[in-house]
Amino acid sequence: MEEPVHRRRPRYPGRNPRRFEERYKERDPDRYPETVEKVVASGKTPVGSHRPVLVNEILAALRPEPGLVAVDATLGFGGHATEILPHLLPGGRLVGLDADPVELPKTEARLRALGFGERTLTVRRSSFAGLPKVLAELGLPAVDLVLADLGVSSMQLDDPVRGFSFKVDGPLDMRMNPSRGLSAADLLARISAERLAALLRENSDEPYAAQIADALVSSRVRAPIATTLALATAVREALAALPQRAREEAGDDPVRRTFQALRIEVNDELGALRAFLAALPSCLAPRGRVAIVTFHSGEDRLVKKAFQSGNRQGIYADWSRDPVRPGPEELRANPRSRSAKLRTALGPGAADGLAS
Ligand SMILES: C[S@@+](CC[C@H](N)C(=O)[O-])C[C@H]1O[C@@H](n2cnc3c(N)ncnc32)[C@H](O)[C@@H]1O
Repeated sequence: MEEPVHRRRPRYPGRNPRRFEERYKERDPDRYPETVEKVVASGKTPVGSHRPVLVNEILAALRPEPGLVAVDATLGFGGHATEILPHLLPGGRLVGLDADPVELPKTEARLRALGFGERTLTVRRSSFAGLPKVLAELGLPAVDLVLADLGVSSMQLDDPVRGFSFKVDGPLDMRMNPSRGLSAADLLARISAERLAALLRENSDEPYAAQIADALVSSRVRAPIATTLALATAVREALAALPQRAREEAGDDPVRRTFQALRIEVNDELGALRAFLAALPSCLAPRGRVAIVTFHSGEDRLVKKAFQSGNRQGIYADWSRDPVRPGPEELRANPRSRSAKLRTALGPGAADGLAS
């Protein structure tokens, strides 16, 4: 018989682990429930998990009921799906999509372990832009409820290997599907300063777009920007010549916005959202309901325009002109919810409107 392999646990300085690999207890809630509870009680999200935003507001907007068919177009950790699914039973089902092949199998395993079997829950790795194709493959002509909670999950942000966060060092990747397309490092290695500046403006409303783009493109001559911390440093250095007051006011926002703009481009997030919004009306059953959570103005503008023009054309019976935002309690408990905006639309035939 083989001897079990003994692996030494990562050691860390101080009382609390800081680095991703040191925080192994948070990633194993079955073995270390007290650690996970402590992290949650301190207002943080345990690494390897994701706290769903605006849960009650989404349930109120979608009104899941027994027998209905729902799509969670951005399954993520399965936080919203776990809340919605029990309301669909008996008789209903949920189709969960996500573009991320790394996290999706873990999420599916977690949801299956909660007792959601094949008849109740179908999981597909797909962009939500491909929703009509997935529904056709499943023989579903239309669905009653659709949720999309856009952007990245905490699991993706926290894992240094994914390269999404400027707070932890890792390869500058940022792909939701790491086997497809160009990484952020590849994009930065070949993009022109003009195009990069335009991306920073369009995807993040970056006021220092030209300075940052010029500095990043000229720094390529010295060395390629291959890691997350190298990019963060290069953005800070790009703004080093600003007056001290402007630098203090900006803080790390230019770094955060640069990461966001690159991530949106690397994953063609706005292209996928446009395709999804265009396909939604054909996927929605009469009296269907759609809820979309956005995290920045570029996304919210697209959702607002699609719902508004759909309403004018009679595609949507009603839509939420004022987005719902997290309240103070949620903001305190989950600071990552701070830029979330929820908008809802009702399919044709929904006579009662959103107000009732
Ligand atoms: C904010 S998280 C969703 C979290 C989820 N609602 C929960 O409660 O756990 C966003 C998810 O959308 C996924 N995603 C981003 N763009 C996508 C796309 N075009 N198609 C499908 N999934 C996408 C990401 O991989 C990520 O898992």
